[in-house]
Amino acid sequence: MGMRGGEGLELVFSRLVLLLGFLFCAAGCNTRHYVFNVEGAPYTRLCSTKNILTINGQFPGPTIRAFSGDRVIVKVYNHAADNITIHWHGVKQPRNPWSDGPAYITQCPIQPGKMFKYTILLSSEEGTVWWHAHDDWNRATVHGAIVIYPKPPNCYPFKYHQEFLLILGEWWKRDMKEILEEAIQAQNDPVSDAFTINGQPGDLYPCSKSGTFRMVVEQGKRYLLRVINAAMSNSLFFSISKHQLVVVGSDGSYVKPITTDYILIAPGETMDLLLEANQKPTNLYYMAARALVYQNIANFDINATTAILTYTSNCHKKPPSFPSLPFYNDTAAATNFTSKLRSLADGHHPINVPTTVSHRLFITVSLNSMRNETKTTLSASLNNISFEIPSIDILQAYYKRINGVFGNKFPCKPPLYFNFTADDPPTSLLAPRKGTEVKVFEYGACVEVVFQGTSLVLAEDHPMHLHGFSFYVVGWGIGNFDARKDPLTYNLVDPPLKNTIDVPRDGWAAIRFKANNPGVWYLHCHLERHLTWGMTTVFIVKDGAHPQAKMLPPPRYMPPC
Ligand code: C2O
Ligand code: CU
Repeated sequence: MGMRGGEGLELVFSRLVLLLGFLFCAAGCNTRHYVFNVEGAPYTRLCSTKNILTINGQFPGPTIRAFSGDRVIVKVYNHAADNITIHWHGVKQPRNPWSDGPAYITQCPIQPGKMFKYTILLSSEEGTVWWHAHDDWNRATVHGAIVIYPKPPNCYPFKYHQEFLLILGEWWKRDMKEILEEAIQAQNDPVSDAFTINGQPGDLYPCSKSGTFRMVVEQGKRYLLRVINAAMSNSLFFSISKHQLVVVGSDGSYVKPITTDYILIAPGETMDLLLEANQKPTNLYYMAARALVYQNIANFDINATTAILTYTSNCHKKPPSFPSLPFYNDTAAATNFTSKLRSLADGHHPINVPTTVSHRLFITVSLNSMRNETKTTLSASLNNISFEIPSIDILQAYYKRINGVFGNKFPCKPPLYFNFTADDPPTSLLAPRKGTEVKVFEYGACVEVVFQGTSLVLAEDHPMHLHGFSFYVVGWGIGNFDARKDPLTYNLVDPPLKNTIDVPRDGWAAIRFKANNPGVWYLHCHLERHLTWGMTTVFIVKDGAHPQAKMLPPPRYMPPC
């Protein structure tokens, strides 16, 4: 059986539904409906079985397919024993933070036995984005793809024969509640037991051979691979033996085609790749993903997860060949790939980079450590504030003007300027302050944020993700940001439009966006342990004067806390 159970059929079926939907309804009829049942299901990986949280029993979860600009209604029924919320990662949700999903930021969780109806407003996104649980560490198994087709008569800026989804993830043998507990204890990094492609660890892990995902292609045809990094802990290098990849999209926007032997994809990012099936059809080829790791690898997983690329041909004699992947801590290979991303920026896909800036933020992105009498624990911060999750959601508190839930004093700069990327920063800088501070913007503000990585505790890359927006990545570099020189090198011509930017290890990245989406929007590192440790804040964009510049009213039912 070539494809994962049902994926082929599902694809044909959903295309049919899309086609019929398109034929039978005129303009304006563009609402699609999905039902998500949150339920436990037994899955066996790495020689043992455990009960995992799933949507409709599937891991990875069901794929949402829609056209650009559609509205998607998802009814989420919680049949499980845990709270849950779902976030539509990369969907801007214009004026509609109510359905954005992060627990205690825009909603209270959906409790066991309850249902919440999410309204997902697609706008300019095109390509691949995704959805995942946004409560505790449930997203480890509760995630899936959102495939957004160009709305006819628009079409892709490239042609392909067929598409495949490649969802990169992680498998933990222990229960995710134990892992979460371990993360909260914050003595060290919780480590998974395998990386996965479409839920399968692949040939190189124990008891995994029979399940290895196989992608069947025909010689001479071109394929679109939609790659999502749904892993919790690491950026991943990904490559396919003897085949080049052409990157054509990322985070739901098109990019200028990049021909490459490998990609780097951070947690939260998506990449759309073209693959020419132009190699010997009698051979088998591994595709593999391996973590970018800066920690002590003695306690980290640098094994590769694999899937097999196979041609429709009857005799395969040799074992699959292995691709060459960059070394696990190759910062240069990582930044070399990332620096190639440029917006397509052609006549059909214009871009709109803010050239003037009204609000400037300089945010240090740090790990921290805290000592008390008995132990040292890890923590994480933005501008040295380690974010504390409130007990009712910030959106509700903002909308109903409930005092005491959050403060509006997230600072525009760190409390102290020092050599952020020095080899041995003084330990006096290690302790953060705790707080629930947000940054408030007037509607229409032109915002620039420079994220500055630091070497406190451990220098790592940090995939910073902003809800509610796509932003232009106008610059990045290694070392300390230089406010006089670096802006002169900004790309204001064709910077990539992203929702997640992997701030390089011991480096910085600059983003720009227009604050034209009123609401409450989470900003956080997409490494789950860093999020848990407080590497987050919230941007609130106030309503503008025009009725079309105001938040939509809340839905009739929001889950209570
Ligand atoms: Cu992909 Cu706040 O999340
Ligand atoms: Cu991080």
